[in-house]
Amino acid sequence: MKKGLSDSVKFIALALFLVTLSFNSFAQDISKDPAVISAGEALFNGNCKSCHRVKQKLVGPALAGVETRVPSIDWIKSWVRNPAKVIASGDAYANKLYTEFNKSQMTAFTNYTDDQIMSILAYVKAEAEKPDAPPPGTTSITAGGEGSGIPNSYMNVILVGMIVILLLLLIILGLIITALKKYLDQKDLSAEDNEIINSPYTPGTIFRSTGFVFLIVFIVAAVSFKTVIDGLYSIGIQQNYQPKQPIAFSHKIHAGQYEIDCKYCHTGAIKGKQANIPSPNICMNCHTQIQKGTNTGEGEIAKIYAAIGYDVKTASYTGKQKPIEWVRIHNLPDLAYFNHSQHVNVAGVECQTCHGPVQEMDVVKQYSLLTMGWCIDCHRKTDVNTRGNAYYDKLLELHNGKKAMKVEDIGGLECSKCHY
Ligand code: HEC
Ligand code: HEC
Ligand code: HEC
Ligand code: HEC
Ligand code: HEC
Ligand code: HEC
Repeated sequence: MKKGLSDSVKFIALALFLVTLSFNSFAQDISKDPAVISAGEALFNGNCKSCHRVKQKLVGPALAGVETRVPSIDWIKSWVRNPAKVIASGDAYANKLYTEFNKSQMTAFTNYTDDQIMSILAYVKAEAEKPDAPPPGTTSITAGGEGSGIPNSYMNVILVGMIVILLLLLIILGLIITALKKYLDQKDLSAEDNEIINSPYTPGTIFRSTGFVFLIVFIVAAVSFKTVIDGLYSIGIQQNYQPKQPIAFSHKIHAGQYEIDCKYCHTGAIKGKQANIPSPNICMNCHTQIQKGTNTGEGEIAKIYAAIGYDVKTASYTGKQKPIEWVRIHNLPDLAYFNHSQHVNVAGVECQTCHGPVQEMDVVKQYSLLTMGWCIDCHRKTDVNTRGNAYYDKLLELHNGKKAMKVEDIGGLECSKCHY
């Protein structure tokens, strides 16, 4: 009895010891402080993201769970500061990894402090523990095009439904007539009535009947009414406009497959009114090296060289330039004022909320309606992003008592905000 007890005490003590040990060597050091995590996120995005993802292999390994598979946290610190040195020291783990990744060299971050490296690990750990998010564009799009007014497809369904019901009524009436005829005692009827009842059912009589004429007139009127209404609603609206572009540039490849940040090319979106179409200089950051596409070969990329005057053979610029004439897709009339940085920077609205899943489009199309109703609708529904914005602190105070502050509450419905 006594022996059994002391055995289980020993066992528990051992288990506790092991748990603390494992905490000491791995988890204990890695912070869960949101400030540390966000500092790590900035470092990771700025310096590691070009080669690493948290849950996905890229140039280097996926970093999720790295703290549990490397020899020690200290190993990570020396590795990040000087990978070449760790490999040269003959470290078995480093050498195995190095060969596994075809001997590609990781950049050395010589000046990184322990805190900086730990913050990156904190970010990686927090990211790794998040459940997989749905792809962008599937959740946040509430203000998108579809759903404003009666959708076109509903109108069609309603019309077809009405026609089907009318035809069914016609058939049923016909059946009732034949059924009734059987039970009529024709002897009791006058000659005139008999004539009507026995009149033969030829196509001619049907086409000439008032019922049929009425039906045809109704259908023609309904269809033309719908066409006119559709036409009126779509004046100046170019939803789904998807012109062919002079170079077969694909957002699906660049923003989707290679995850290049939208703002890397559309630099204006954070700074000012226009998001801007990138100049060929930006394309050349990568395309001096990448001279051939998987799908289109050399032809399409050669058009960039032609535009900027670049000679691939001599790798020099000729000076002969010919601007690329991209076809503009989104276009508000001059009377309306829209500013990207206000929405992207200040409000923190995602590009996809307004432009749809661009990263899945080979050819960009206009996703949203871009009507006044569309702007207003979102301004009524959307909370103002006041976090970390001192300008809004005062406003929030004045606003206290009410629920969340919507764009409408800061004047987002005033005509003069959007019209000059
Ligand atoms: C130029 C590409 C590149 C950059 C930038 C880069 N890495 Fe790496 N990293 C690699 C490669 C490749 C490996 C695999 C080993 C090798 O081939 O050298 C690796 C391996 C690692 C490992 C070991 C992973 C494991 O599974 O054991 C860690 C940790 C790491 N990198 C952290 C970082 C951090 C932190 C940053 C940013 C501060 C960073 N890396 C930036 C390319 C890069
Ligand atoms: C590698 C550079 C690059 C990246 C990255 C990129 N774009 Fe573009 N974008 C372009 C070019 C070039 C055009 C003009 C040709 C076209 O329409 O495809 C364009 C056009 C557009 C247009 C249509 C503009 C118009 O004419 O109205 C929208 C909207 C757009 N991009 C949004 C995005 C979003 C959102 C992302 C991120 C998911 C993104 N872009 C990422 C280069 C880029
Ligand atoms: C609140 C909605 C909204 C958001 C968010 C938004 N856009 Fe736009 N975007 C528009 C509207 C509206 C236009 C048409 C502007 C015009 O014609 O003046 C436009 C036009 C564009 C154009 C065409 C060129 C230009 O500057 O007019 C590009 C490229 C573009 N957006 C890219 C982006 C990118 C990249 C992001 C994210 C960083 C983004 N947009 C975020 C609504 C939005
Ligand atoms: C950050 C790097 C980067 C930038 C900037 C960039 N590209 Fe690319 N581009 C790529 C990569 C990577 C590929 C894929 C090559 C492949 O298919 O193997 C590619 C492929 C292409 C292709 C061929 C697609 C195919 O599959 O055939 C075209 C055309 C192209 N880019 C045009 C452009 C244009 C135009 C710009 C400037 C507006 C641009 N790129 C900017 C990296 C870039
Ligand atoms: C997806 C939602 C959304 C859509 C769509 C949208 N906006 Fe906004 N808009 C916002 C938010 C959020 C703010 C608040 C920004 C801030 O905090 O200053 C804002 C602010 C503004 C402001 C400044 C208002 C003020 O009182 O300071 C103007 C002007 C504006 N939007 C114009 C437009 C126009 C024009 C359109 C349509 C072409 C549009 N917006 C479409 C979300 C949207
Ligand atoms: C949030 C931004 C916003 C606000 C606030 C706003 N408008 Fe507009 N308005 C627009 C946009 C964008 C268009 C262009 C729509 C289009 O091209 O279909 C427009 C178009 C118009 C038009 C032209 C009609 C047409 O179909 O071309 C008139 C008139 C107009 N607005 C009047 C007003 C008045 C009056 C107010 C104040 C009660 C107001 N707007 C408030 C964004 C706004």
